[in-house]
Amino acid sequence: MAKPLNIGLIGVGFMGRTHSNACNRLNNFFDSPYQPVLKVVCGLEADNPAAFAKQWGYEEHETDWRKVIERDDIDMVDICVPNNMHAEIAIAAAKAGKAILCEKPLALDSAQAEEMVAAVEQAGVPNLVSYNYRRVPAVTLAKQLIDEGRLGKVFHYRSLFLQDWTISAQVPQGGKNTWRLDVKTAGSGVTGDLLAHCIDTALWLNGSITDVSAMTETFIKQRKHAETGEMTDVGIDDACAFLCRFGNGSLGVFESTRYARGHKALYTLEVNGEHASLRWDLHDLHRLEYFDHRDDSTVRGWRSVHVTDHDMPYMKHWWVPGLQIGYEHTFVHQLADFLEAMDRGETCSPSFREALETQKICDAILSSGKSGQWQGTS
Ligand SMILES: NC(=O)c1ccc[n+]([C@@H]2O[C@H](COP(=O)([O-])OP(=O)(O)OC[C@H]3O[C@@H](n4cnc5c(N)ncnc54)[C@H](O)[C@@H]3O)[C@@H](O)[C@H]2O)c1
Repeated sequence: MAKPLNIGLIGVGFMGRTHSNACNRLNNFFDSPYQPVLKVVCGLEADNPAAFAKQWGYEEHETDWRKVIERDDIDMVDICVPNNMHAEIAIAAAKAGKAILCEKPLALDSAQAEEMVAAVEQAGVPNLVSYNYRRVPAVTLAKQLIDEGRLGKVFHYRSLFLQDWTISAQVPQGGKNTWRLDVKTAGSGVTGDLLAHCIDTALWLNGSITDVSAMTETFIKQRKHAETGEMTDVGIDDACAFLCRFGNGSLGVFESTRYARGHKALYTLEVNGEHASLRWDLHDLHRLEYFDHRDDSTVRGWRSVHVTDHDMPYMKHWWVPGLQIGYEHTFVHQLADFLEAMDRGETCSPSFREALETQKICDAILSSGKSGQWQGTS
């Protein structure tokens, strides 16, 4: 019998929806030790949290996040608000003894992330950061193949995250829908928003990153602020490309931009090893492409593995072989893994401490982008 786990969700935007959907779906598909109970949701008055509560099944709604954390009946705080609020909420939630699921990037910078790690470790509360792409079945399968040693020694890791939604100079910065362009709220541009995902996956698949050399650019230097109407300097990186060295001796090439006309969310990764290579593409997320040089030359070539069989990661929980799942399922997987680990008293990856490593690499990238110099990540 699953134990009830009372959830307090903070933030009712894009991620608030994906996380609520995960809570609602979990026990339909996974034999979880916990049954999430949607106790209370918090959003700004303008977000109409009452309507959100009704639509997703929350018992109560709230406009002050502190009241959520003060409640004795909340077991887990789910942080789905813009980046500048993660630290204050997470530290308060840790002090109150709550389990914490926090959206990425963990913080605005690594100094803030350090404080969050100290808070959760001091309080001994379960904690997880929502780098959900690890839990796309095809990406988890890539991890299995790499860990089995199928690729042999890895030489190259290559990753892109491309979008095109800020090309117009008319897009404002700040405010409800464009907070990602305001450095005070977002911390950085594509580095913290998009490359952080690429970095988290890379650390998981290919190990530590020791040094980075980055090039960053802000193509549109001033934008109107959505709240004040004033033209103000843009402080975020619109585009970022960086080279890196991994601890295992391999070389990394990463690029992210919101100025790649025609691309909405093209996240790709490729790993080249001595014996084999693999690549993955978010636009075709249920396939893993794999090339193995050890195959007989008459049939050697890139295979496109449709990741749907029941012996593939997470797939036994869903439909029948041949039928695929999608983006929203990654959030169900992360919740399932988090609650199972919580029940066993174990850490679930990526914890706040692991996400701190990603944050330090983001800081090193931004610093290298300014200085033009190679930068160590520790
Ligand atoms: N894991 C992923 O793939 C992924 C994808 C998108 C966003 N994110 C992260 O999730 C977080 C939220 O992003 P989003 O896309 O959901 O943003 P969003 O703008 O869609 O939603 C944020 C919500 O927080 C609310 N909010 C702002 N201040 C608040 C306050 N004081 N109290 C309560 N609510 C408040 C906003 O009104 C809004 O409803 C960010 O940290 C972002 O980086 C992660």
